[in-house]
Amino acid sequence: MPIPFLASVLMDGWPSWLPGPWTLTKAGSALGAIAVTKIYASGATCTAERNMHGRVVMITGGTSGIGAATVYELAKRGAQIILLTHHEHNDAFLVDFIDDMRERTNNQLIYAEQVDLRSLHSVRKFATKWVDNAPPRRLDTIVLCGSTLTPPGKSRTETPDGVESTWQVNFLSNFHLLGILSPAIRAQPFDRDVRIIIPTCSAYIRSPSLDKALDKKDWSPGKAYARSKMAMMVFGKAYQKHLDAYKRPDELPMNARVFLVDPGYSRTPGMRRWLTRGTVWGLIVYLFLYVFSWLFLKSARMGAQSILWAVMEGSLVRDKGGKVVKECMVVDCARKDVDDEAIAKKLWESSDKLIEEKEKDAAAKRARAKKREMEKEEDKKERERVEEIEALVNTIKKGKQKDKEKPKSGKKAKNGEKTA
Ligand SMILES: NC(=O)c1ccc[n+]([C@@H]2O[C@H](COP(=O)([O-])OP(=O)(O)OC[C@H]3O[C@@H](n4cnc5c(N)ncnc54)[C@H](OP(=O)(O)O)[C@@H]3O)[C@@H](O)[C@H]2O)c1
Repeated sequence: MPIPFLASVLMDGWPSWLPGPWTLTKAGSALGAIAVTKIYASGATCTAERNMHGRVVMITGGTSGIGAATVYELAKRGAQIILLTHHEHNDAFLVDFIDDMRERTNNQLIYAEQVDLRSLHSVRKFATKWVDNAPPRRLDTIVLCGSTLTPPGKSRTETPDGVESTWQVNFLSNFHLLGILSPAIRAQPFDRDVRIIIPTCSAYIRSPSLDKALDKKDWSPGKAYARSKMAMMVFGKAYQKHLDAYKRPDELPMNARVFLVDPGYSRTPGMRRWLTRGTVWGLIVYLFLYVFSWLFLKSARMGAQSILWAVMEGSLVRDKGGKVVKECMVVDCARKDVDDEAIAKKLWESSDKLIEEKEKDAAAKRARAKKREMEKEEDKKERERVEEIEALVNTIKKGKQKDKEKPKSGKKAKNGEKTA
């Protein structure tokens, strides 16, 4: 086909039905530039492979975006998935999501546990149940994809625990979860390669200092998000040191490693909420300019590649952990204070204190609510008892009234007989 075409161009000249060579060159260059941009923006693809059969993966945020793409890839390779989600077990979306994921991956071992990252109590309830299991349950990988952000222009919100939402969902609850799960992680047999994956974001580079809390007046969605990611970076590194400091009973080195993974900017529901500023107008503009996000942002599947690499790459077994991963390779950290032990210590202690305080407050609130509920129940029972007695008294009264009326009608009847 190309040879006869070239021959006809040579013999008869450029065909009239084809745009001119210059136009074709321009169109080709434009298409090439788009293709190169798309390939570059999509980032690296994970080439690491690992048989995930029998491995247990616990994941937060596994129901959407990068988390859902990670679940799909790992489940396809046979991993047992435990989705930690704020949805209730009988939630129609969750049931559909799991059914669909089981069907698409041909893997029935996908389960869900209710963990709401907006509630420290919910995190503790799940984690203590997991840790209380004897013998310790198998746990190979933890992926912490659950996150939130406040769209730009929107105001600061707090969780029911009274903590700024971004801080609690993105950092404090993860800190709480890993803190409680620590014995279960350390108890894994020496030949198990345990990995804890903390997704981070390059936004951490412009995070305000962790030294002092973010003032309400100083608060902005961008600062809150960046600061929560910075805190996870500092905590992730400190958590690795905490694991390494543990003396295993078999005296072997620690086999659990933390990796801080930057998935890169991706087209996920979270990113969409950020770009559209959480407004309908924003959504219309986003859809109108969708071609730009398609071109410059990764798909959720491509965003999951570095996470998959950190989960499956064999050479990381020899790594010490606490490393940053980006584009499927270990990279340097862009901020020195991420390794600052004094900051890490302060963050750890203040977070412990905040959790204790908020958990106590929440427990007292729950106790008060329970008491109110019991009082209401008692009142209801009392009212029912009174109504029952009143109904009984009324029945007796009616009965007596009827008894009184009976003889009269009897007399009337007898009188009637006489007159007849
Ligand atoms: N997307 C990006 O461009 C990008 C860039 C750099 C880093 N990252 C990081 O990558 C990770 C995944 O990002 P993503 O964009 O895929 O996130 P996403 O689309 O916003 O999804 C967030 C996930 O967290 C879950 N979640 C939210 N609130 C929760 C709560 N209270 N309790 C339990 N789960 C909760 C959501 O569940 P529901 O959907 O059921 O509410 C959802 O599954 C995040 O850590 C993010 O910071 C993302």
